Amino acid sequence: MEKPSRLKNFLRHIKHWLILKTAPRKNRVYTQFYRFPHQYRALVEKVVPKLIESGRGPMNIVVFGCCSGAEPISLAAVLRKNFPELDFHISAYDIVPEVIERAQKPTYSREEVYQGPFVTEDFVRENFVVEGERFRVKPEIMATITFAVGDLLDRTFMASLGKFDLVFAQNVLFHLPATNARLAFANLNLLLQPGSALFINGMDVDMRVKLTRKFYLDPVEYLIEEIHNDARVDRGNGWASAYWGRKPFSRVSREWIREHCTIYSKAQI
Ligand SMILES: C[S@@+](CC[C@H](N)C(=O)[O-])C[C@H]1O[C@@H](n2cnc3c(N)ncnc32)[C@H](O)[C@@H]1O
Repeated sequence: MEKPSRLKNFLRHIKHWLILKTAPRKNRVYTQFYRFPHQYRALVEKVVPKLIESGRGPMNIVVFGCCSGAEPISLAAVLRKNFPELDFHISAYDIVPEVIERAQKPTYSREEVYQGPFVTEDFVRENFVVEGERFRVKPEIMATITFAVGDLLDRTFMASLGKFDLVFAQNVLFHLPATNARLAFANLNLLLQPGSALFINGMDVDMRVKLTRKFYLDPVEYLIEEIHNDARVDRGNGWASAYWGRKPFSRVSREWIREHCTIYSKAQI
């Protein structure tokens, strides 16, 4: 693809900035299986080994904005494959009751299963049983996940959940108005204890810089560019015209690590 001139590039950034400031936010119940391949590598190579080393008990995981199940199912598949002995449970929440009902009946169409650009035949064979036209998630994967309706803006509900080792809220916060996104982030912080990891793809980058600092969250500096570029497969085309658009990767900003990093570890304060 032809490289845009510096002026064109500058104008795109201005356009995106204006859209971020003015575009109305709208809930979207869109998801894909195996959406975050390099994040999974970081999870498997860095995050989980560190948690195992710290000698915690069974791993407690929560996914917010789980939609119709693709994200927690993919996560469970990755953990089972790479850590067959690991004792873990995933609590998965979404605010929309219909998508939770859908997630609880784990059969999907071919189109739903293969929608994600990173889905491989191995992933499908390992995690689904084909029943005619439908793909059923294997029971051993489903046994590790509980789906329920839950609102990450409800502070009382969030505070009642306790602490987790891994907290996911991906591609959720950028669909919320800024005030709500800040509230949601503060609520997610309630679920973290020192050493817990937060996975937070898909939020306003300036807000991410400010709030990760405010809540003592240290970037996990691993595969930042590769993780960023995975997200651009979906959100990079016409990025400047959409509030959910993902800018090209760049190290120019003083804050490039926090702007682009999507995995954070809660510090010992
Ligand atoms: C774009 S989808 C992302 C799904 C998945 N996390 C992924 O990355 O593929 C956003 C999901 O967040 C859910 N959501 C929006 N506001 C929420 C809230 N306040 N609490 C919990 N879930 C919410 C939506 O209903 C939707 O299913």
